[in-house]
Amino acid sequence: MTEKKPYYITTPIYYPNSNLHIGNTYTSVIADVLKRYKNLLGYDTYLTTGTDEHGQKIMKSAEAAGVDPQSFVDKIASETIDLWEKLEIDYDTFIRSTESQHEKDVEEIFTKLYEQGDIYKGEYKGYYCTPCETFWSKSQLEDGKCPDCGRDVEYQEEETYFFRLSKYTDRLKELFKDHPDFLEPAFRQKEMLNNFIDKGLSDLSVTRNTFDWGVDVPFDNEHVVYVWIDALSCYLSAIGYGDNKEKFEKYWPAGVHLIGKDIVRFHTIIWPALLMALDLPLPEKVFAHGWILFDNDKMSKSKGNIMYPEPLVDLYGVDALKFFMLREFNFGSDGNFSARKFMERYNSDLVNDLGNLVSRTTSMIDKYNGGVVRKGSVADTYDDELIALAEETYTNFNKLMDEFNFNQALEAIWTLIRRANKYVDETEPWILGRDDKNSDRLDRVLYNLAETIRIVAQLIEPFMKNTTKIILEKIGTDNKGFESAADFGLLEEGARVSKGKNLFDRLDIDKELVKLHEANGALIEERLNKTKKEKKKEEDYIAFEDFTKVDLVVGKITEAKVHPDADKLLVFTVDIGEDSPRTIVSGIKKWYAPEELVGKNVIVVRNLASRKMRGIESEGMLLAADFDDDLSLLSTLSDMKPGSKVS
Ligand code: ME8
Ligand code: MG
Repeated sequence: MTEKKPYYITTPIYYPNSNLHIGNTYTSVIADVLKRYKNLLGYDTYLTTGTDEHGQKIMKSAEAAGVDPQSFVDKIASETIDLWEKLEIDYDTFIRSTESQHEKDVEEIFTKLYEQGDIYKGEYKGYYCTPCETFWSKSQLEDGKCPDCGRDVEYQEEETYFFRLSKYTDRLKELFKDHPDFLEPAFRQKEMLNNFIDKGLSDLSVTRNTFDWGVDVPFDNEHVVYVWIDALSCYLSAIGYGDNKEKFEKYWPAGVHLIGKDIVRFHTIIWPALLMALDLPLPEKVFAHGWILFDNDKMSKSKGNIMYPEPLVDLYGVDALKFFMLREFNFGSDGNFSARKFMERYNSDLVNDLGNLVSRTTSMIDKYNGGVVRKGSVADTYDDELIALAEETYTNFNKLMDEFNFNQALEAIWTLIRRANKYVDETEPWILGRDDKNSDRLDRVLYNLAETIRIVAQLIEPFMKNTTKIILEKIGTDNKGFESAADFGLLEEGARVSKGKNLFDRLDIDKELVKLHEANGALIEERLNKTKKEKKKEEDYIAFEDFTKVDLVVGKITEAKVHPDADKLLVFTVDIGEDSPRTIVSGIKKWYAPEELVGKNVIVVRNLASRKMRGIESEGMLLAADFDDDLSLLSTLSDMKPGSKVS
């Protein structure tokens, strides 16, 4: 047997700064479908996904949640793994950029590039967009904002290490010229050439020294490695770059990096240049899909218009969700996720077209043939058309899948499904069933339908494997492999059909919309509340700046007496090194006689707003320790000059 051809697929390594929504999920669903498809064709596939856990953005999210960055990312990474399980994403490695082997790999890569002169030390002056983790020069900004996301940028001047990106300009030009399918869709190539490469590339700052949530530069731990270098390297470390040479050489270079359009520049300029510097082969393809809006708006946690995939899966099943995502959106262009559209498509494509074909065919075989498939022999011209289309579909489908044209590939299958439903209307089996002399013709018609269903079941497997299994069971046959969809006539005579329950039940859209929005809303609420709870923890602490607002000084008590109008208060005159002494009232009469305190050093809150206590203005406060019924004024261990600062 010949060796299977390896095919390596990656999703982006997602930032675990909040739970993933239907948009992020899109890339992983595509990756999963592509992997299953390639597997069915006999490739030895490998799929990497994971979380990009370092960098300033994550650090700030963790700070805002009031937890340390590692616990912060641990939680979301584990929820992301749960999500992929729910969505039946068949990944091979879930890489986390905080794993020690990955960190080692990043250190090794960085050191190698430094030693060979591709990385050098310098000073960075420019602007940084934290949400995008991107450096910009002044001329690249648009109205002073990040040209990618439109948010504020921070000016920065810091000592940094640079990667000699400029050195690779010509090789990148050649890459785009010689490999027009390196980046798809093709119009993105022009964007990269016109906006960046042809303008001339500047060297890229690849370290930060203003925070430390990252991989330390091994030979200079004032600096951490820029999060994008760290993240892109995950594609290598996930397949054994530093610890499994054999595996690495088997799967690298990647067959395709699947990404959204937001990160094309990183994957088709910075990444290939790094790989060139590392002397590694380049990925065969980067495919950038478009943006998914939610009800025509950009999803955002703050706006509360997020669609999470979990309720869709819980209510309608993973197959329906995968089908919808790949059927509805034109891979490459922007699309809009609308829950209503999801349900309309569910009713039209899954219930009416596919579900109906399967249920009417199985019930007719039940009714007319006692549930047994018979081949029959009387043919008709209607049959030829159906059979020709069924056989063509396999070829069309593969061609479209190879072009990453998923929605048209599904459309090709649904054209066949609709053709088969039309065939039922043309051949009118219920009329054939009225007369025994037509029973051979009826067998033939029902066979053609069942066999078309078998082919459909094989073809949809990369998208809807659970449905494939159920359909094949219903028509009483086994999975004959994806390629069996090319041949009409493989369904066995004598196969036993069982109608069972509906594949998909019709949705009452208005009712379901309420249900779905309730479930999704509850999840948004829960996830926002969790963040609030985490914020509350933060409120238990004060910032250092807040602490320094309290001005504490040493004071010397020069006079002490009992408050004339209160039994618990003493009134002190305290020298705190200012022109005139302060009057301070304190509730400590129970513990001290006034005369024993004269001449003692105490600690005074100098900048406390004054307040009247039983008619006497108190201009500060004395610090004391108390526990149960014990109390002791705070003092200094040796005599200090009044006004000495306490900090
Ligand atoms: O960029 N529609 O991570 P990220 C479609 N850590 N796709 C969407 C989407 C939407 N509305 N929102 C997000 C990063 N995506 C880096 C990647 S890779 C070495 C490092 C998808 O969490 C899309 O694939 O911001 C996009 O590229 C990705 O999520 C960005 O994920
Ligand atoms: Mg992003």
